[in-house]
Amino acid sequence: MKVLITGSNGMVARSTAAYCRSAGDEVIALSRADLDIADIASVRDGLTSIRPDTVINCAAYTDVDGAEANASTSYSANADGPENLAIVCREIDAGLVTISTDYVFDGSFAGYYDQRHTPEPNGVYARSKLEGELRVRAANARAIIVRSGWIFGHGGTNFLSVMPALLREGRAITAIDDAWGTPTFADDLARRLRELAELDLPCTFHVTNSGGGTSYHGFALEVCSAGGFDPSLVTPVAGSSLSRPAPRPRNSKLACLFSERFGLEPLPDWTDAVKRFCGSY
Ligand SMILES: NC(=O)c1ccc[n+]([C@@H]2O[C@H](COP(=O)([O-])OP(=O)(O)OC[C@H]3O[C@@H](n4cnc5c(N)ncnc54)[C@H](OP(=O)(O)O)[C@@H]3O)[C@@H](O)[C@H]2O)c1
Repeated sequence: MKVLITGSNGMVARSTAAYCRSAGDEVIALSRADLDIADIASVRDGLTSIRPDTVINCAAYTDVDGAEANASTSYSANADGPENLAIVCREIDAGLVTISTDYVFDGSFAGYYDQRHTPEPNGVYARSKLEGELRVRAANARAIIVRSGWIFGHGGTNFLSVMPALLREGRAITAIDDAWGTPTFADDLARRLRELAELDLPCTFHVTNSGGGTSYHGFALEVCSAGGFDPSLVTPVAGSSLSRPAPRPRNSKLACLFSERFGLEPLPDWTDAVKRFCGSY
């Protein structure tokens, strides 16, 4: 496949480019400087000259707290951007896989959110991502939307991704023990993104590692176990003890109604993924 990957400096984009190359694809990975998805002219120029079989959109404005004060940047990247890609992919008859978030749910439900749950996003980032989903769906019936959450991986700057480095340095960390999600290793997500591009079935998928999910505190203890770090460095705290500008769902565990029915095997258990992540650090 000829695969165009957007947001190529990002965590998921890097894993996806590496995975697609290893699978034998011709990969064109473009950073924001190469292709600004918020700019329809840039998108049209790039896609019509490259003519990919499929676009995997890993570009997004991901600063959840920063979005509260930068709504227009958030909506440009997270709503206009995916919509522009959807419009142009339709024009050139290319597939589109675009990534959304578990944050489209408000977190008031205690179980696993599947596709039967109606999104009720809180906060600018979450609302901009849902807006992106809705516009993609309206602009391009072939598009595939992938909701994922709690993504960790190499090059990531979020808390889950930097934990091993902090703990290896012997730094004490606090980890929330009353918010739950389903962790997703960027390398495993990358494989699934490509599989979905090949499957070419228009749908909204929920993609996470299996194993039932955990809290940030549970994740940190698993990192200690996998990396041989001292668990006494990790102190559990309540989410309410952190004053952050943006609201987060207290629970955003995801389950998918479709993946296994479409012949896709579950991604490995998240604890196995943490071991691979820590082992390859
Ligand atoms: N990380 C998570 O836990 C998580 C959870 C759920 C869903 N997601 C979703 O997963 C996807 C990938 O996230 P990630 O963690 O890999 O994000 P990331 O590391 O922050 O990478 C995002 C990339 O997008 C680029 N970008 C921003 N605006 C752009 C634009 N207008 N045009 C082109 N590129 C642009 C950024 O470039 P600059 O560096 O130049 O800004 C950055 O390289 C996103 O859709 C995100 O919403 C992430």
